[in-house]
Amino acid sequence: MTAIPTSKEPSITTLPSRSRPGVLGLIGNTPLVKLQVIDTGPCELFVKLESHNPGGSIKDRIGLSMIEAAEAARHIDSRTLIVEATAGNTGLGLALVAALKRYRLLLVIPDKMSQEKVTHLKALGAEVVMTRSDVGKGHPQYYQDLAAEIARKEGGYFVNQFENPANPLAHETTTAPEIWTQTNGQLDAVVCGVGSGGTITGIGNFLRRTAPHVELVLADPAGSVLAGWVKERVLTDAGSWLVEGIGEDFLPPICNLDPVKQAYTIDDEESLLTARRLLREEGILAGSSSGTLLAAAIRYCREQTQPKRVVTFVCDSGSKYLSKMFDDGWMHDQGFLRGVQHGDLRDIIGRSAETAAVVTVSPSDALIVAFSRMKLYGISQLPVLDGARVVGILDESDVLLAAIKDSQAFRRPVREFMSTALIAVQPNTEVEELLPLFDRGLVPIVRDTEGKFLGLVTRSDVLSFLRRKFQ
Ligand SMILES: Cc1ncc(COP(=O)(O)O)c(C=O)c1O
Repeated sequence: MTAIPTSKEPSITTLPSRSRPGVLGLIGNTPLVKLQVIDTGPCELFVKLESHNPGGSIKDRIGLSMIEAAEAARHIDSRTLIVEATAGNTGLGLALVAALKRYRLLLVIPDKMSQEKVTHLKALGAEVVMTRSDVGKGHPQYYQDLAAEIARKEGGYFVNQFENPANPLAHETTTAPEIWTQTNGQLDAVVCGVGSGGTITGIGNFLRRTAPHVELVLADPAGSVLAGWVKERVLTDAGSWLVEGIGEDFLPPICNLDPVKQAYTIDDEESLLTARRLLREEGILAGSSSGTLLAAAIRYCREQTQPKRVVTFVCDSGSKYLSKMFDDGWMHDQGFLRGVQHGDLRDIIGRSAETAAVVTVSPSDALIVAFSRMKLYGISQLPVLDGARVVGILDESDVLLAAIKDSQAFRRPVREFMSTALIAVQPNTEVEELLPLFDRGLVPIVRDTEGKFLGLVTRSDVLSFLRRKFQ
C-alpha cells in the first residue's frame, strides 16, 4: 500500500520500493521532507532526499534505467563492455548497477576529479581511464569523445547520458510520479537544476500530461548558460563555477527547457552557504548543488504572494564535500566566510587563533602528535604554544631532519626540534614586506599590539588572498 500523506500526517513519507531484488530495489522512492525552520515566506517547501539512494545520488535512477533500457533493446549482454564519460554521480550510479548486474563498466574521467570519487568507483569494480581536463569538445582526449572512441574500438556500448532517452524517462516514470503521490497532488512548483537535463525534462514531460498548472523552475549556477537561455533564448559565453553536478556551457541534446518559465542564477557563495544552513537549521547533509537548488527555491517561495507547495531536491549527500564546503578553512580560502573584515593581515590568516581555527601543538607533545596533526589538516607547519604564548614553530623539514637523524625522534617532545627563531609582525604590516621572509624560509607570526597570538601567515594564505582579490 502506498502511504499518501495528508496535511495532518507527519511530513516524511517513503513509498514502498519496487520489486527489483536486493539493493536495486532501494533505488528511488526517496523520502520527501518539509522544511521546518528556514523562512520560505507564504510557501511550504519540501525537499526530496535523493541522497538516500543506495549509490548516494539522484543518478542511481538513471544508472538503472539506462542499463535496463540497453538490456531491453539488446544493445548489451553479459559480455558487453559498458562505457560512459562522467565526472561524477552518474559514474557511481552506473557502477553500482553494473556491479549488481555483473557488467563490465569503463568510465572515462577528466583528471581534475577528486581521488575519493575515483577510489569509490574503482572499489565498485569500475575500470577507470583518466583523460585531460584542459581540452574541449572535438579534441580526441576530451572525455566524451574519448569514451565514444573506446566504445567504438572495443565494440562496447556508449551510454551517453546527454543523448540517452532512458535518462529523462527515469524521472518521468519514477521521480515525478513519486513527487505527485507524496504531495497528494497538492503541488504548485518544482525547482530543478540541469546537468544533462534528464531530471527537468522527465519531470516536465510528466507534468505536461498530469498537472500542466505546476510551474517548473530552473536553478542555475552563475557562469552556466542555461538561465540565460530560459530568460532570453540566448546562449552566452560560459564562466566557471564550483558547485558540482549542475550548470552547463551548452544546451544538452536531451534537455527540454521549453516548459521552464522562470530561472534563478545563484552564485557559488550563496549556494554553499545555503547548503551549510540546510545542515545547521534543518539537519540535512546535502551536496553543493543542493545549495543552488535550495537558494533558488527559497527565493521563489519568498516572492510568492499566495501560499504554494514547492518541491526541490537534495541531489546528493554533503558527506562527499566535508573537506570542502563544510570546512571553514576551505571556505575562508575561497573568500566565502569573510566574517569581520579588518583590512589588514588578520583577513589573510588562513587559520585564525581568533576563530579557534588555528592548529597548534604544545612543546611537550611528542613529535608524532605534531606530524599526525600536519597530515590530518594538510598543513606543513605548526605554531608551538605554551599556554597562550608562541614559543616556536615546527615545520615538515624539522620533522624530516629529526626522523632521519634519530629513529626514536617521533617519541621525543616537540621542544627538542622546533625552531625558536620567531619572526613576529603586527597586523598592519604590508603583504609585500612578508615576501623576503618567505624567501628565507620563515613563517611570520601575527601578534596584536598587546602581544596576543593571532595566527601564522603562510605563502599559501597570501596566494589565496591574492586570488580572492584579483579573480
Ligand atoms: C549533483 C547533481 N547531479 C545531477 C543533477 C541533475 O542532473 P540532470 O540534469 O543530469 O538530471 C542535479 C540536479 O540538481 C544535481 O544536483
